[in-house]
Amino acid sequence: MRYFIETYGCQMNVADSELVAGLLEGSGCRRTARMDDAQIILLNTCAIREKAEETIHNRLSQLAHLKESNPALLIGVLGCMAKNVADSLLESKPYVDMVLGPDSYRRLPLLIRQRKTEQEHLVNTRLSRFEVYDDLFPSRREGVNAWISIMRGCDKFCTFCVVPFTRGRERSRPMASIVVEAEEAVRQRFIEITLLGQNVNSYRYDDARFPDLLVSVAAVPGLRRIRYTSPHPSDVDDRLLGVMAAHDNICKSIHLPLQAGADRILRRMNRSYTRAEYLRLVERIRAVVPECTISTDIIVGFPGETETEFQETLQVVERVEFDMAFTFKYSIRPGTKAAEYEDQVPAAVKQERLERLIAVQKAITLERNRDCVGRVMEVLVEKESKKSSSQWAGRTDGNKWVVFDKESARIKDFVCVQVDSTHGVALKGHIVIPVNLSGQEVYHAVA
Ligand code: 5AD
Ligand code: SF4
Repeated sequence: MRYFIETYGCQMNVADSELVAGLLEGSGCRRTARMDDAQIILLNTCAIREKAEETIHNRLSQLAHLKESNPALLIGVLGCMAKNVADSLLESKPYVDMVLGPDSYRRLPLLIRQRKTEQEHLVNTRLSRFEVYDDLFPSRREGVNAWISIMRGCDKFCTFCVVPFTRGRERSRPMASIVVEAEEAVRQRFIEITLLGQNVNSYRYDDARFPDLLVSVAAVPGLRRIRYTSPHPSDVDDRLLGVMAAHDNICKSIHLPLQAGADRILRRMNRSYTRAEYLRLVERIRAVVPECTISTDIIVGFPGETETEFQETLQVVERVEFDMAFTFKYSIRPGTKAAEYEDQVPAAVKQERLERLIAVQKAITLERNRDCVGRVMEVLVEKESKKSSSQWAGRTDGNKWVVFDKESARIKDFVCVQVDSTHGVALKGHIVIPVNLSGQEVYHAVA
């Protein structure tokens, strides 16, 4: 059978879709890039904000006519939305055949076989305390970066967040098998890996903690770049920073979700750090890993947030000078604690705060990128620039995108680029010398 899979939301879902693809291909299915050619259509869904759910409802409505013209078509909803809205989804979209939560993917091949003979909808959204899919082989698309999931779930219970409910308790994979997967990624000619987890740095398996895992992965021969996401500020310690500083192949870039800058709001969010602790952590990062870029996530209009408290968030943003920020309006998630708070912020206020925050951060991003102008930076060539077929786009170690003329460089090469200008989030430059910053000849990774 031919399957088509579409992925929404975070990188964890991208990695999960690759696991699902591996499972299906192991049971004889083939991937198709065309939805109208598929006998199985799977949507791997996201529930983090209301808008994400709306997008998926709209997408499913579009699929109704495919099912009408081909009643044998199987439509499956996977991922975070499955857990929360299975019942209402099946009521409003009875043509959905299967609903599978993030811990139920092993059952997919079996359910596909069953569905051919059974008329009942197949629903499996039970969460597991143990499932980490450690023995499964993801079917990865050719590319520069391989996602490696190292832990699943979240025990932090931030009051705004639905993840602890959709993905369940924290559990980590054995370290040895993660290292084997990283070695395998190098053999498959991936240049970079990104270690993934909802709370990646609360990884723990037996005596091993996240910094131990990083040390082991950094020792994998041929692995040029290692990234990880998303960490929680409370689980960043000096040991982790020391390991980042000590290994050339661990990228000097950290995503450090701030969420809010006022202590009362942080407490209400159950974030477990204060504004002062967050600022101290930023100082530590810059002291121990001086080149490190810092990006963040911020929510505006959390229930009860006053204008003064919002301004405290702006102050932290200005103090830290993040290289980049992902900014969100608070979105009520049914079932979470914050959904019950009665002092919800009006939509217009949230919108206005978001716009002010974006304006402040935009100027800072530009300023930080201007600091790169004139510098020569090592860039990994990743893909063709969206704007021009004669240019490549690649990222620096610090996770900044750079666009430059292709010349003789190829995808997966490391090249030295002199940065000439910056426009918004991306840098523009040109290849300067045919050697990289470590003085080696630029090599073509794909021989
Ligand atoms: N509303 C708005 N943003 C949210 N996030 C998580 N839950 C919500 C919500 N209910 C944001 C947080 C998190 C990022 C992945 O999504 O900033 O870090
Ligand atoms: Fe959600 Fe907080 Fe867990 Fe991140 S740490 S997944 S924001 S509950």
